[in-house]
Parts: sequence; structure tokens; C-alpha cells
Amino acid sequence: MTNMRMTDAQTQKREIKIAARDVDVFYGDTHAIKNVSVDIADNMVTAFIGPSGCGKSTFLRCLNRMNDTIDIARIEGRIEIDGEDIYAAAVDPVLLRARVGMVFQKPNPFPKSIYDNVAYGPRIHGLVNNKAELDDVVEQSLRRAAMWDEVKDRLDQPGTGLSGGQQQRLCIARAIATAPEVLLMDEPCSALDPIATAQIEELIDELRSNYSVVIVTHSMQQAARVSQRTAFFHLGTLVEYGETTQIFTNPEDQRTQDYITGRFG
Ligand SMILES: Nc1ncnc2c1ncn2[C@@H]1O[C@H](COP(=O)(O)OP(=O)(O)OP(=O)(O)O)[C@@H](O)[C@H]1O
Ligand SMILES: [Mg+2]
Repeated sequence: MTNMRMTDAQTQKREIKIAARDVDVFYGDTHAIKNVSVDIADNMVTAFIGPSGCGKSTFLRCLNRMNDTIDIARIEGRIEIDGEDIYAAAVDPVLLRARVGMVFQKPNPFPKSIYDNVAYGPRIHGLVNNKAELDDVVEQSLRRAAMWDEVKDRLDQPGTGLSGGQQQRLCIARAIATAPEVLLMDEPCSALDPIATAQIEELIDELRSNYSVVIVTHSMQQAARVSQRTAFFHLGTLVEYGETTQIFTNPEDQRTQDYITGRFG
């Protein structure tokens, strides 16, 4: 069989990983997300773009219930992952966050060794039975984060002693060590130099073969390079969502057009 490129019709049929319906988020009186509905595909990278303060991080945090940790945040609407309501009373947010991993703007390794940073999640969630299995998970996660060769001889050294780009890859390794299904990344390259950024972008492209990846970025070039779907947010609303190439070459909404051409934001 030839390895054909999938047609648009086929990519449309991709499995929906996350379905959000009529989501509103309030911080006290601030209405930060307004009636957002979106389907996020599996095995694809979805980019969230839009001007500062439009709600990208807020909406991203809805997807693994990180807003639960903000006292004044209130969420309405429904978010399903694989058809399951993630805000249902029976869902444990800690277990949910092992399934829906997150990588932040600023690399935030724990003040532990490189090994223990990656081993942390599998340990607390009891995902391994013995040291050999844990060693294996740590190695595989670091390999997939494209940094095994750089750190394999110094796994006992502190994660905080790595360069910025290495720290961010360590955080990605830590996030994927719990075998999540979804990876959320909030401006993961904004603290990195162009070389580290290129490495992370390459990694994101590889990760999508196993995960649904959602990335917030202020860089149009980055969104265009790494994502297959793009969602444009403005003032808390989801203005436009579609194939990345279409959003960047032929947007339907004037606000999207203005943003991607740099007229505001
Ligand atoms: N913890 C919080 N408490 C109160 N208001 C918040 C909080 N986090 C965000 N907001 C408000 O919610 C709105 C959306 O903020 P959010 O951080 O989601 O925007 P963003 O699109 O990620 O912006 P940026 O590109 O600057 O990161 C803003 O008006 C912001 O001030
Ligand atoms: Mg943000």
C-alpha cells in the first residue's frame, strides 16, 4: 500500500478527543470565556491564538481543570474527553491531570534530580511496579522528549541546573511520563532561544502521532509551522476555528484577518 496523504475529507473524520460545549468562565465579575464550543481532534496539533487577555490560557486550563485551583474562577458548560464529562463529580482532577498533561510558559522543573522529575508522576500514580520499570519509563520519556543522550550520564543532577531549552524538554518528558492522552502547552517556547524552539517544535510534531496536542502561541509562524488546526480567540469568544492553512490564508472573519496581518494584538 502506498502511504498517501490524507485528503481533507478524511482528516475531517478524525476522532474527536475533546468536545467543549457552551463554556463560560468567570473570575469574579470578569467574564473571561464567553460561550465557547469547540471540537479538538486526536493526533493533531491545535493552536490557540489571539491578542493578550483574550482568554487562551483560561480556556486551556479548563481542559484539565487547572482553573479549579483558582478560587474566584467559575466554569459553566460541558467539556468531554472521549465522551466523558471531565467536570462530573466522580472525576478526580489529579487523575485527570495525569491524562491531560500540561507544559507551562516558563520551564518549572521540580527542585529534584533529572531522574526524579520524570519519575515523579509515575511514582505518585503508581504506574510502575518496580525500579526497572521506572527506569524504563524515565528513559523512554526522556528519549521522546529528545534529550536522553544529553542527560543520560547525569540523571542524578538537579533538573534546575539544565539550560532553559533542556528544562522545557525535561518538563515535557515529565508531562509525558504519565502516558497522558492530551498535552496542553501554554506558550512553551516563549522563554527559549531559536534553537531550543526549533527542537521543541520538532518534538511537538512527533508527539502528535500519540497525543492530542493543544498549544497556545503568540507566534503566527509557530502556529503555522506546528499546527493543523487553529482557533482564534478575541475578547473571550472563539471567533474562528478551522484548518490552520485556511485560517492563515483565507480567514472568514475580519477580526481574524486583522490579527494575522498584525493590525492589532
Ligand atoms: N487568576 C485570575 N484571576 C482573575 N482574572 C484572571 C485570572 N487569570 C486571567 N484572568 C483574566 O481573564 C482574562 C483572560 O486572561 P488569560 O490569561 O486567559 O488571557 P490570555 O489570552 O492567555 O493572555 P496572554 O496572551 O497575555 O497570556 C483577562 O481579562 C485576565 O485578566
Ligand atoms: Mg496566556
